[in-house]
Amino acid sequence: MKILITGCSGFIGYHLTHKLLSKNIKVIGVDMMNDYYDINLKKKRLSNLKKLAKPNKNFVFYKLNISDFKKLNKVFNENKLDYVINLAAQAGVRDSIKIPQRYLDYNITGFLNILELSNKHNIKHLLYASTSSIYGLNKNFPLKESESTEHQIQFYAVTKKTNELMAHAWSQLYNLPVTGFRFFTVYGPWGRPDMALYKFADSIINNKPIELFNKGDHVRDFTYIDDVIHGIYSAIKKIPKKNNKNINFNTSNSTSPFKIYNLGCGREVTLKNYLRLIEKNLNKKAKIKYLPMQLGDIHKTSADITLAKKELGYNPKVNVEEGIKNFISWFKYYKKYK
Ligand SMILES: NC(=O)c1ccc[n+]([C@@H]2O[C@H](COP(=O)([O-])OP(=O)(O)OC[C@H]3O[C@@H](n4cnc5c(N)ncnc54)[C@H](O)[C@@H]3O)[C@@H](O)[C@H]2O)c1
Repeated sequence: MKILITGCSGFIGYHLTHKLLSKNIKVIGVDMMNDYYDINLKKKRLSNLKKLAKPNKNFVFYKLNISDFKKLNKVFNENKLDYVINLAAQAGVRDSIKIPQRYLDYNITGFLNILELSNKHNIKHLLYASTSSIYGLNKNFPLKESESTEHQIQFYAVTKKTNELMAHAWSQLYNLPVTGFRFFTVYGPWGRPDMALYKFADSIINNKPIELFNKGDHVRDFTYIDDVIHGIYSAIKKIPKKNNKNINFNTSNSTSPFKIYNLGCGREVTLKNYLRLIEKNLNKKAKIKYLPMQLGDIHKTSADITLAKKELGYNPKVNVEEGIKNFISWFKYYKKYK
């Protein structure tokens, strides 16, 4: 079995590649290694993967941008791939307001290339990252996959909604099995420096004020990385099939070989409580600079994970208390703080 993982040097891609290599599965990794955040963190993740794979040569890495069709085509031609997992994307809500063109290129053109090549090379199952942000203005909490995702509030989420629509069209046109994951604020060791946990911990340790938007009243369904990886891993061989039954069409249901799952934790936590846990683990109070709600920010996310539990055996186990503790001990090691 050979699996292509795009975004393999990113946070989720790193953990997924690590898990597959540990299970002796062959991985072809693709990442453009961009400098959206500290490139050294991506290099360190990549070097860990290379070390882990060295004895049995199970990992081949290509540095390329998935929006470059020619280069991506070469990867598909050079490797007989069974599965594709597309995690490469420009993430982050705020930059999508400042530099939308990059989101169009990486997230939409890039995904178009993934779909075209997955079809051309008869990939058994294409899995890809969507986001909880696509629920936009919808407030029917906890949010089920079948809920409306029509009311987007920023371009990052628009690109992911577009990915879901594109995935559906390709699955219907070519009978290509596709599964999308709506991730809910994933956190944990080797996490992203642009996300709250890393930024808060870094600022507290360095005595810098943290910027707390909306008095920290945002609510998030924080999901620990190992739980998310378990969910993705369980879905690889759950290949969606055509379904000729009479169904109730909604944003996640279809007669095509097409599935969408929420991968959340199923627990609501305010950002200020999240911050308290970080302070507790660092044994130090944060200096706080209060700022108003940011443009494009979603006030609350909360996942209904019944479907993933039922169909994937998904069962998130790590609560924020334990997850933050794990992150802080990794962070101290990574930053060499004592
Ligand atoms: N982390 C979360 O909480 C979260 C939540 C919802 C959705 N997601 C989605 O999950 C996926 C992975 O997220 P992450 O947190 O690991 O982000 P990340 O930024 O750490 O990882 C993405 C990786 O993809 C690479 N990349 C970006 N555009 C590329 C391109 N065009 N070609 C090749 N490589 C490219 C980057 O260099 C990076 O290493 C993304 O699609 C993201 O939108 C993440």
